[in-house]
Amino acid sequence: MTEKKKEKKTKAWSNKKQPRSLKEALEKKLSKKEKEKLITSFDSVGDIAVIQIHDDLQKKAKIIGEALLATNRQFKTVCMVSGEHKGLFRVQPVKIIAGKRSKKAMYKESGSQFLVELGKVFFSPRLSTERMRISQLIKENEVIGAFFAGVGPFPIVFTRLSGMKKAYAVELNPEAYKGLLHNIALNKCQNKIEPILGDVKKVVPKMLLGKCDRVVMPLPKGGESFLKEAMLALKPKGGIVHFYRFVDKETGAEEPLKEIGEAAEEVGMKTKVLRNKKVRSFSASKEQIVIDFLAKPKRLK
Ligand SMILES: C[S@@+](CC[C@H](N)C(=O)[O-])C[C@H]1O[C@@H](n2cnc3c(N)ncnc32)[C@H](O)[C@@H]1O
Repeated sequence: MTEKKKEKKTKAWSNKKQPRSLKEALEKKLSKKEKEKLITSFDSVGDIAVIQIHDDLQKKAKIIGEALLATNRQFKTVCMVSGEHKGLFRVQPVKIIAGKRSKKAMYKESGSQFLVELGKVFFSPRLSTERMRISQLIKENEVIGAFFAGVGPFPIVFTRLSGMKKAYAVELNPEAYKGLLHNIALNKCQNKIEPILGDVKKVVPKMLLGKCDRVVMPLPKGGESFLKEAMLALKPKGGIVHFYRFVDKETGAEEPLKEIGEAAEEVGMKTKVLRNKKVRSFSASKEQIVIDFLAKPKRLK
């Protein structure tokens, strides 16, 4: 669309009474049935809004996107989710439905900035409270294992909000690693974060054995197969692990607690759960939880 046409479109909205909500903006554009299927919540990643659109409303995606732009002037682009988080890299495909044709967002959190290219890397603003919570638990001069680092939100927020000495940020997706390098430079934390491109399974035995006071594991689907590596990365006196996991609401932490116990047994460690809490609801039957646990060699008291 040309700049002139875009201007005309924005004017058309601004000449009318400014709609206060997405529902109100779509009042005359969707049928009663369609309105019932409209999902009004969305994620904000900088100036990009990411919204889910019900299958039956796919033909109205552009109209919904434009209404979202009209009611939330901070956004320049609206993307719709076009598939599930996929594969090892947990990337969620998204499609631009309105506004500027760019999937690059500049996202701000806790005084740090992140360049995120949606559709190429995993990114979720929903764990910001967790990043703040863990920052407050980190003690002066701690060394952190930031596993599954993505474009760097955990270690970069830790640099800003805690007195940590250093974080090893391990990431397997080359695109996310590129973003991690960019964001480390953007936030001037080169002296605090060591980025490592590779698989946690291989990186830990090669370079992180016994190095960390604390390990964060934000891989809620599949993270359980890296529990041994997390414990092996802890210093000989032991340390703390933050383990994220999707669980059935009915059974809760039962399965992950078993997994922690089994992994600890295999590496000759004992564990003590410090905290076990829900992070967010994921679907009708599933939720994301985090278990903070202390792990130390069995021979130590
Ligand atoms: C759920 S995302 C979390 C990313 C980031 N911590 C965040 O919160 O935005 C998990 C990340 O782990 C990476 N990953 C998956 N398997 C891995 C492995 N074996 N070793 C290192 N990174 C891995 C994925 O590429 C993805 O970027």
